[in-house]
Amino acid sequence: MRPFLIVVTLISILLCSVANGEARENQLLDSGWRFKLGEVPNGESPGLDDAAWQSVSLPHNWGWEDAQQGKPIVRGPGWYRRQLEITPQPGKRYFLKFEAASLVADVYFNGKLLGQHRGGFGAFCYEITEELSRSGTNGPSQSATTETHGGKIRGILAIRVDNSKFPDLAPLEGDFSVYGGLYRPVHLITTSEQNFSLTDHGSPGIEWSQTSVRPNQADLDVMAEISNGARAKKASKLTALILDADGKTVVRVEQSINLAPRDTAPYWLRLVLPRPRLWNGRKDPYLYKAVVQLEADGEILDSVEQPLGLRYYSIDPEKGFFLNGQPYHLHGVDRHQDYMNEGWAISEANMEEDVLLLKELGATVVRCAHYQHSDYFYSLCDRAGILVWAEIPQVNVMRDTPEFENASRSQLLDLIRQNYNHPSIFAWSLFNEIGSKSDDPHRELQDLTAVAHGEDPTRLTIAATMTDARPEMNKIPDQLGWNIYPGWYHGAKEEYGSMLDARQNSSRHGGFCLSEYGAGANTTQHEDHPAQPKPTGQWHPEEWQALLHETAWAALKERPFVWGTFVWCMFDFAVATRHEGGQPGLNDKGLVTRDRKTKKDAFYFYKANWSDEPVLYITSRRFVERTNAAVDVKIYSNAREPELFLNGVSQGKKSDGTNCVFIWRNLSLIPGQNKISARAVANGQSITDECIWNLTSSK
Ligand code: GCU
Repeated sequence: MRPFLIVVTLISILLCSVANGEARENQLLDSGWRFKLGEVPNGESPGLDDAAWQSVSLPHNWGWEDAQQGKPIVRGPGWYRRQLEITPQPGKRYFLKFEAASLVADVYFNGKLLGQHRGGFGAFCYEITEELSRSGTNGPSQSATTETHGGKIRGILAIRVDNSKFPDLAPLEGDFSVYGGLYRPVHLITTSEQNFSLTDHGSPGIEWSQTSVRPNQADLDVMAEISNGARAKKASKLTALILDADGKTVVRVEQSINLAPRDTAPYWLRLVLPRPRLWNGRKDPYLYKAVVQLEADGEILDSVEQPLGLRYYSIDPEKGFFLNGQPYHLHGVDRHQDYMNEGWAISEANMEEDVLLLKELGATVVRCAHYQHSDYFYSLCDRAGILVWAEIPQVNVMRDTPEFENASRSQLLDLIRQNYNHPSIFAWSLFNEIGSKSDDPHRELQDLTAVAHGEDPTRLTIAATMTDARPEMNKIPDQLGWNIYPGWYHGAKEEYGSMLDARQNSSRHGGFCLSEYGAGANTTQHEDHPAQPKPTGQWHPEEWQALLHETAWAALKERPFVWGTFVWCMFDFAVATRHEGGQPGLNDKGLVTRDRKTKKDAFYFYKANWSDEPVLYITSRRFVERTNAAVDVKIYSNAREPELFLNGVSQGKKSDGTNCVFIWRNLSLIPGQNKISARAVANGQSITDECIWNLTSSK
């Protein structure tokens, strides 16, 4: 049977149009794929019959089904194939852009290897113009494996994706399951013969460097990497302009340039914007539009629009984080990209939901652990005003080999060049918890720090450590995060203060952030006045997690030298090797469950402390079946004087809350159903909450 035919239809075409017509076409290649897990000899061959393969659409991944059941996941190759039908136009160029493939992808078009990408979290892009035509863009070729039909070219796109544990490719280890597949979108992009380069580490080929930003003036250097696919030189004009949110051009600079034949080279423009409106985090995430255009003879050859958030920041080792010259407390969470029943193949709607939950929580920062997250997720953070810690996947172990080092450097270049223009990103992270099993990491980390500083002098390097066994390693990045878990993995929750104080001078400049802290919680397990659970045990009562966060936050908010705090983790996430807390295959330290449906008590503790939204929340609402008549009722609220009612009878108002925690002690439940309700006024708004507890037998 002939290979499964799918015509790339206009329906999925997303035109990146500009004022004077279409400079580029961007077609999502999301449907019509064939997939087969495992090795396929000659999987790239155009003549291979893949009719019996599984029909899938992208994004797609494998492994999550096993991981979320606590079973080992398949780590090895999988093959994707689909037919492309393109009618090449003279003067046009054609590119295939993959937003990610885990972990190593070999991309073939009509049996020819276009390239291999190593690294499971960055984008990559290959040009197929030559494969579509004999010489550049002058009409279709008659190559043996390419079928032509009236100028239309029909070819086979085949990708071998392999999520094996490669000895020379980070992550070598980590407390997360490494799924396999084309788990982010794939695009067919059509451009003019002259374009802003798409093939430099899969980047937009444009960087807007905020060389100096102050309230009175923003100085920007724009770098545009321009590729001329024609055999002739091309006189053209490069323009950079900034539009305000209303679309009004506020500054514009242009320059005539001569593009050499068949050449790609960088060009620079400088812009000065007086009295800019700054991107001011959650308070005012103001975004301009930054546009770079290439035109010749009145025609726009290419145009790329990106968000532009003008801001500056600094970190004082004693006083903490400053945004635009003002103190700005960074409090937030770590986030994995894992999602219930989707693994990593999450949708834009999934990411929008995550960011809405971050905003509801009142987070001002998110650490995108432990790898490069989707460009779309970073864009959502740009718009939400949530600062982002971006990271490469060097987790637990590094190898002192040229292959490992080159692969890590390449992943860092992917991360920086692809995400340079996101105002939300404030730091590039080089490692997470490099421990005793690792080869000596110092030289490679110094190299990666130099690469990051060379690529982006405007941002910090950072890393998260859990040990002071390598004190010099902890001082390589500009800033340092500590992962500590008193009250869970080691020590008592009351030790947060002393453990924080002991680390104040462990970073290069002093001060640090708490890049991970927390405890597990199963929302179906409950215990009054809980004892500290065994982390690997099957009992993770929700009440312990809440208590731990109350204690941790009390210690953290008193220590400005801890310039940022990151709860591990925003969402429960799948880990095939974990079997604890009564749930297989799950790391349950999330403030929210993996399906995003249940916000745990600890979520509301932070929401009360961080959010401007009125909060009145009765804790242990899921602890419905009671056997003790004598109970304490704990409420989280940012109101001044919440009032509690038990079965309609007031138990009085309280105004003695610390960190939004109010407790009415030793109330007496009646046998059977008890209605717990609360009332308060916050920000002039009357708010209520209620829940039911059943006393089944009185002790
Ligand atoms: C570590 C690690 C995380 C892990 C977490 C945990 O600090 O960085 O990747 O998930 O602890 O044990 O839950």
